Amino acid sequence: MRYLVVGSGGREHAIAWRLLHDGSASEVYVAPGNGGIDERFRIQIAVNDFESLYTICKQKNIDIVIIGPEAPLVDGVVDFLQNRGITVFGPTTQAAQLEGSKLFAKYIMQKYNVPTAHFREFKGKESLIGYIESSAVFPVVIKLDGLAAGKGVGVCRERETALQFIHEMVKDNAKVFVEDFCDGEEASVLGISDGTTVLPFIAAQDHKRVYDNDEGPNTGGMGAYAPAPVVTSRILERVHREILQPVILGMKNEGIPFVGILYAGLIIKGNDIKVLEFNVRFGDPETQVLLPLLSGKLGDYITASIDGKLSGINLTFRNKHAITVVLASGGYPGSYTTGLPITGLDLLPEDILVFHAGTKRDGQLLTSGGRVLNITAIADSLEEAYQKVYNAIPRVSFEGMHYRKDIGFRALKKRP
Ligand code: GLY
Repeated sequence: MRYLVVGSGGREHAIAWRLLHDGSASEVYVAPGNGGIDERFRIQIAVNDFESLYTICKQKNIDIVIIGPEAPLVDGVVDFLQNRGITVFGPTTQAAQLEGSKLFAKYIMQKYNVPTAHFREFKGKESLIGYIESSAVFPVVIKLDGLAAGKGVGVCRERETALQFIHEMVKDNAKVFVEDFCDGEEASVLGISDGTTVLPFIAAQDHKRVYDNDEGPNTGGMGAYAPAPVVTSRILERVHREILQPVILGMKNEGIPFVGILYAGLIIKGNDIKVLEFNVRFGDPETQVLLPLLSGKLGDYITASIDGKLSGINLTFRNKHAITVVLASGGYPGSYTTGLPITGLDLLPEDILVFHAGTKRDGQLLTSGGRVLNITAIADSLEEAYQKVYNAIPRVSFEGMHYRKDIGFRALKKRP
């Protein structure tokens, strides 16, 4: 089988690696890819250039296209390619509203009794300001409806910060809502769906803040590990029964079947599980720890999803633990320099997996983005994976490189 993976991050490198590694694919092209992808299989097409993606599918005889990031999904890349006879893994533009419109996701959750925080919707900035000025309850969470590259959510501990968020982020006629603040531990549970059946992955945990101990500004994700023990097998079973399956059946009932990866961003406190958000794609960096642990062939699961044949299939994982640590450019998530030489990848132990993100090749390997590399270790225990990954990282270097030293800390601290 020949695949085209669309995207340029660590997630897309991990998907391409997995398809080749488990024998699902004879060839995997990646558009636009990164420095980790063999030049022969890197296609310089932007993720929003649907016409050129279609042309390359025809030229390379692509059997299945896998879409990595949310923006082209929300913009209709699946509809565009499917209408031209190309087989694509991912939701249609309507189904992608589960991520593209946070209000749509709230309506679906409300209608199908999926646990999520209470919310109040506002028509424009003025009524929102009026509400915040008279509210006695803080913290609150203010959410903008559309895609905002992770910047559309304000967790505001007091009135002043809420008003500041509104003034900086909310446009006059914006669709916006306020949600009750939920306390607890976050986790990500992905499910693969064929529109009727959904099979859950093991849980992973992302680390969004830039510095250790969850300090500093938010990033695209500084590392992840799996399985995340906050999601016990009982909780995972409930996430499947109370969240993933009702949403998939609800979407089918609405006449908008969801095919692809449904990612539930959860908050868990004791027995209380709530959905913070849905994404309609593989998570980044969660994919970099989930796919190395997957049993079987990724391509078989994807084909079964596209063909509506997931019922009766077991999605299983190896009894191992994985950690991925993001090596970031100096200054990230603020401004940073690119084009800096990366050294030491050839010195890493053989069993360390390296998924590239912001890298490019120009005679040598250079940085080209904020999140540069995902260094990933697999082991029998999380502790062992932690030791392996952090022993390996100092061999790699580029000017200004920084990374978190505590990926997995919540799970590791819990253990005696
Ligand atoms: N890990 C967060 C995301 O993929 O959106």
